[in-house]
Amino acid sequence: MGGNLVGAGGRLFAEVKPGPDETAFQVNNTSDVYYNSPYYLRHKDQLQPVPRPRVNPPRMRLADVLDAKTISAIGAAKKIVFHAVGDTGAAKVDRTHPAGQALAHEARVVDAMAAAVQGGGPDAPAFLFHLGDVVYHFGEGQYYYDQFYEPFRAYDRPIFAIPGNHDGMVFGDAPDRPKVGTLTAFLRNFCAASPGTSPDAGGLVRSAMTQPGVYFTLDAPFVSIIGLYSNVLDGPGVISSQGGHYPLGDGQVAFLRSELARLKPQRTARERAVILAVHHPPASADSKHGGTTGLGSDIDAACQSAGLWPDVVLSGHAHLYQRFAHHVGGRDIPYVVAGSGGFAATPPHRHAAPGTTIGGYTLVSAPIVDFGYLTVTVDMTGSKQKLSVSFVSPGRADEHDSVVVNL
Ligand SMILES: [Fe+2]
Repeated sequence: MGGNLVGAGGRLFAEVKPGPDETAFQVNNTSDVYYNSPYYLRHKDQLQPVPRPRVNPPRMRLADVLDAKTISAIGAAKKIVFHAVGDTGAAKVDRTHPAGQALAHEARVVDAMAAAVQGGGPDAPAFLFHLGDVVYHFGEGQYYYDQFYEPFRAYDRPIFAIPGNHDGMVFGDAPDRPKVGTLTAFLRNFCAASPGTSPDAGGLVRSAMTQPGVYFTLDAPFVSIIGLYSNVLDGPGVISSQGGHYPLGDGQVAFLRSELARLKPQRTARERAVILAVHHPPASADSKHGGTTGLGSDIDAACQSAGLWPDVVLSGHAHLYQRFAHHVGGRDIPYVVAGSGGFAATPPHRHAAPGTTIGGYTLVSAPIVDFGYLTVTVDMTGSKQKLSVSFVSPGRADEHDSVVVNL
């Protein structure tokens, strides 16, 4: 039987007959004016407020979004597969990276993910968990069509997202008031109260996502993903006040701690894996962004206090693939960076060889500087429950890496 998925409550995900890839933007978006705007120039080094979740605690189920038949097929297979990637947004970078090339880079990744979900079955990814930077450079609603809805128009699965710094960045003509509040378009498209059509979708059918907040837990069969929002700076990523150093509340870390504590019995019983997703990587060997020690310490402290470490930590932001190991709690936890979704691949710094240690994180495999995405599989069949994370670069069979975690 053919036809596209219809999710819970009549949600739609993909076009029935997707047209060819765009080769030019509908709305040009160099964002130069915004970078030079009075508000941005004055506030670019400051954090922005974190929107209060719509629901408390901010938690949702995959079954709230996908249809009952797909959910029960996952249950019967005792296995779930999903995609993850960050930094897919396409924008004109500079004269040497024109719009057509940016769109082609994003399309290369997204078209491959769309092809992977076609046909369904237990090996088809059930959803995409986007690791942030959906829309460059200032997350404006007018660019959601070119950078999100159009590229993902054939991806016939739900898309969840945590915001990246570019999704939350703001600008404005007044020195102390942004023209549009931070994350306005992100909230409209990913944290809608109901799954209607987004005004930013340009007539495409994908229903708005109904996340309870910009940080939230997605409870899926066999896996829970705790997504955090690490704010608007190019660096560092920040999720708390860090002991009063930043003008932010500590609600997100409290949320992380309580979600880990909630999930601990199910994880201990090997009923589900627990994944943490945050846009800024706690460790990175790229030449531009580097890692974020305060963020890593916040995560460590929450895990320590809850008595549960995630099985893997996924991040974006640095525009390449990297895999670190963080040795804690008697385990080597993979910290995977996949900001490789299509925006401006960035090389690692010269000394980033496997074995290099950055803070408490050891680079395990050589970074891959190419566009690509992650496929995460949680396999509960048999007695050896396991989680695997694989990176593939479409069309480059040699650029591949994967790691398996025994649950
Ligand atoms: Fe970013």
